[in-house]
Order: sequence, then C-alpha cells, then structure tokens
Amino acid sequence: GRPADLTGRRVVVSAGGTREAIDPVRFIGNRSSGLQGYALARAAVARGAEVTLVAANVALPDPAGARVVRVESALQTRAAVLDALEGADAVVMAAAVADFRPATRSESKIKKTGAEPDAVHLVKNPDILAELGERRRDGLKPYPRVIVGFAAETDDVLANGRAKLARKGCDLLVVNQVGDGLAFGTPDNAATILVADGDPVDVPRGPKEVLADVVWDLVAARLV
Ligand code: C5P
Repeated sequence: GRPADLTGRRVVVSAGGTREAIDPVRFIGNRSSGLQGYALARAAVARGAEVTLVAANVALPDPAGARVVRVESALQTRAAVLDALEGADAVVMAAAVADFRPATRSESKIKKTGAEPDAVHLVKNPDILAELGERRRDGLKPYPRVIVGFAAETDDVLANGRAKLARKGCDLLVVNQVGDGLAFGTPDNAATILVADGDPVDVPRGPKEVLADVVWDLVAARLV
C-alpha cells in the first residue's frame, strides 16, 4: 500500500497539452496524452492529498477523488493553476504548455483561396512554471511551497536540465527521455529527477505510476 504521507496536503497537477487556436476549427497542439499527469493525480489522491487536476485536452476518465478543471490553451492553464494556488502545498507542472500562440484568432474559418496563405504570426505565452518560481522568490502569496517541473530533453539531458531547473526556480525537474517508444502516449516513462539541492534521482523505464510515486516521495520529504 501507499503511505498516507500527503494527508491534509493540497496539490495542483497540470496534465495534457495545450491547444492554441488559429481559427474556430484549427489549433497548434502537441503530442502530450496526459497519462503522466493523470498518474500523478491518482497517486496523490491515493496518498491522501486534496488534488486539483488542471487537464488540457486529455481524453482520459477523471481520476476518482480529484477536482478536475478542464482547459484548452496556455492562458487558460495559467488562469486555472493560479486560481488553484490558494492553500496549495505543491504544484506539479506535467502539462506540455505551448511556448507560443497565434497572435490573433480568426473569428471565422480561414478560407482556402487561390493565393498563398497568410503566415501564422506567433507571440510568446507566459511561462507558468517560471512565474510560480518568481512568486515564491518574491514572497508573493499565494505561492506553492514545492514546485515541480517537467522537461523533455533529447540531448545534453543533465546540463540542459540543470540550467532549466535554475532558470525556472523549481525544486524538482523531471527530465524525460523522449523517443525510443517512451514519453508521449505510452504507459511507460524513464526519467532523471533533478533536485535543486541534492543529487539527481534516476527512475528507470517503468510504468508512469512508479515515476509518479517517486515524485511524491520527494515532494512529501520537502513538506515535513
Ligand atoms: O521550457 P520548457 O517548455 O521545456 O519547460 C517545461 C516545463 O515548464 C513543464 O513543467 C511545463 O509544464 C512548464 N511550462 C509552463 N509554461 C510554459 C511552458 C512550459 O509552465 N509556457
């Protein structure tokens, strides 16, 4: 059985991948399935936490016992995460949040004409994870005590991960190995969890549930 070490704790988990609308029928999206975030939410419920799951475009059943807030875009994800912050002990940003969005959303479906299409002009989305780190650094309440990010890296995993952890001001950064039948849409994951003030923790290839429990082990240790 799992320890009830998150009893009385309030945690926020984001999952899935954002969609950034181009027009009413088209969007820019990504391949995140939400499986890892949902595994994190289920594990936290099982360990006694009060869980808010911010789910971006996930086709999975709601985890029993979690409060699920459905969102579509990065801006909606940000609003939902900030809204759930009050009283939150930890936030785990497992969602793949788009770095950019189309500058404008066409009110009507963009038509195919004989001419060359217009370029889709992109603007930056806010970095939610970095913003949480800034709130905590600046003592701007509410902010979570423990902040966990995810990163999919393909090369120089440790060096890139370290730099990202520092840049975003998080406590833990779960660095996924992508490719090789891992990460996107698969039940398995393999990761190195970088720890701001400690040694990295290697989680060998295995079910996303196992990685979820290792993450909560590390979070729970920081909440005592
Ligand atoms: O910078 P990168 O996108 O690789 O960082 C990934 C981490 O940052 C994930 O935890 C993701 O949820 C978070 N993120 C965010 N807001 C963004 C982009 C990424 O919170 N706009």
